Amino acid sequence: MKLLIIGSTGQLGGDFVKIAGLQGHSVIPIDYPQIDIRDKSSVESAVNNSAPDAVINCAAFTAVDDCETNREAAFALNADACKNLALAAKGLASLLIHISTDYVFDGAASSPYTEDCPTNPQTVYGQSKLRGEEIIADLYADGSMIFRIAWLYGAGGANFVKTIRRVARSNRQENKPLKVVNDQFGTPTWTVSVCRQILSVIDIGERGIFHATSEGACTWFDFAREIVGADGIGADVLPCTTEEFPRKAPRPRYSVLENARLKALNMHIMPDWREAFHEFLSTEGRV
Ligand SMILES: NC(=O)c1ccc[n+]([C@@H]2O[C@H](COP(=O)([O-])OP(=O)(O)OC[C@H]3O[C@@H](n4cnc5c(N)ncnc54)[C@H](OP(=O)(O)O)[C@@H]3O)[C@@H](O)[C@H]2O)c1
Repeated sequence: MKLLIIGSTGQLGGDFVKIAGLQGHSVIPIDYPQIDIRDKSSVESAVNNSAPDAVINCAAFTAVDDCETNREAAFALNADACKNLALAAKGLASLLIHISTDYVFDGAASSPYTEDCPTNPQTVYGQSKLRGEEIIADLYADGSMIFRIAWLYGAGGANFVKTIRRVARSNRQENKPLKVVNDQFGTPTWTVSVCRQILSVIDIGERGIFHATSEGACTWFDFAREIVGADGIGADVLPCTTEEFPRKAPRPRYSVLENARLKALNMHIMPDWREAFHEFLSTEGRV
């Protein structure tokens, strides 16, 4: 397929370009400032000039804390820009693949969220991403697929794995333990797993919202221990509470997603989070 990948130098977009290329798709990568998804004519010309079978949008305002103080900018990029994407894709009858987040939920659940669980975002980031989902559903329901992902890490971009490695090394030098939140639950998800899963369902004709995170669940503390242990950094990792580590944007306490639709379709290939993390380590993620 011919794929226009927007946000192609971002954490997920970069791997989409790589994995889609490896799978033999014809890939057209584009990113800011060559495209500004907030600008209708910029999106139209990128889509019309490439006439793709699918537009894959990985561009977003992803700095969750910064969204709290930049509400307008967050909504411009995560919500309003979705109108430009939906209308441009619809104009050519191209499939629109859009990426969303676990932050559309409030995190008050105690069992995994399926695609039809009620949303209730508690942050500006989550509210803006939910509005983006709604705009796409309103304007182009019969031509779009929205994938909610969570706790993303990969070789590119800033992420939890890189932060923990950096802080653990520096704490070890100072003989200080590393404290990590142990009361927020989710599922670490490798960019490459997401790309493989989405590309495996891109031509099946299903539409709407899908959850696509790795299998299993853990806390940030569990994940940090896995990272530090696998890297042999040798720093002490200690559990702490959310209250000990306040953030501008409140983090969901529980954001485990159930990939119910992919499973019902028998198209589910997301691996267990530990298995994926060890594949990441043995391929591109070794320090
Ligand atoms: N990271 C996570 O943990 C996580 C979790 C759940 C869901 N998601 C979702 O997954 C998707 C990908 O996230 P990511 O971590 O790969 O994001 P990322 O690394 O921040 O990449 C976002 C990309 O969007 C580009 N961009 C920014 N403003 C733009 C504009 N006006 N027009 C066009 N492109 C623009 C950025 O370019 P510049 O670098 O030049 O600004 C960057 O290449 C997003 O939809 C995000 O909401 C992420």
